[in-house]
Amino acid sequence: MTTILHIASSANLKSSVTRQIGAEVLKVLKTKNPAIKVIERDLVKTAIPHLSPEAIDVFYQPGSPALAFSDELIDEVIAADILLIETPMHNFSVSSRLKAWIDHIVRMGRTIDRGAERLEGLLKNKRAILILGRGGMYSEGPAKVMDYQETYLRVIMNFIGITEIEVIYIENVLKGGAVLEAALAAAKSKAQLVEA
Ligand SMILES: Cc1cc2nc3c(=O)[nH]c(=O)nc-3n(C[C@H](O)[C@H](O)[C@H](O)COP(=O)(O)O)c2cc1C
Repeated sequence: MTTILHIASSANLKSSVTRQIGAEVLKVLKTKNPAIKVIERDLVKTAIPHLSPEAIDVFYQPGSPALAFSDELIDEVIAADILLIETPMHNFSVSSRLKAWIDHIVRMGRTIDRGAERLEGLLKNKRAILILGRGGMYSEGPAKVMDYQETYLRVIMNFIGITEIEVIYIENVLKGGAVLEAALAAAKSKAQLVEA
């Protein structure tokens, strides 16, 4: 059975483009494979606390009770075959809610470990699907160099061992009107191509 960890991080609960496209991808995955299991982790409906002083004190000591919440989030990642991650671009990077989640799930001995020469990602045979919303255009053109959203998420995924990464962009969202409609339509058609 394929398990999907669905991570939503847009605080726009009324008209979020990343939530709309994430829902479309989930619909496609469920249609292609009705046996799919979905773990929902909505970082807005249930806020993720920043790492506490207590958690930082024992961050490299697995099994400590202060890391119980971090362990719970990591268990969800380990259980998943596909990570479906939605994030708006906020100040050229990911939403701070998603960053807080990342700080909990990148941990020595659980998702990364010391290899012979460098740190190695422990998560193998997983895929990530990134749903990236942007007010402007960053996948090409002059603002590409300011994209710390896709570049950062790719680094984090690779760091924990996930190298199979698909990206669906929704760009120029702040132009609104027909431009927004076209961006949503393009993202929806790309969503149809996702393999279950
Ligand atoms: C706090 C904040 C910061 C933002 N920063 C950027 C930015 O740096 N670059 C950009 O193109 N759009 C920026 N935007 C626009 C969002 O990335 C865009 O509206 C996005 O598609 C929102 O996704 P959502 O509808 O799923 O929340 C920002 C929006 C907010 C609220």
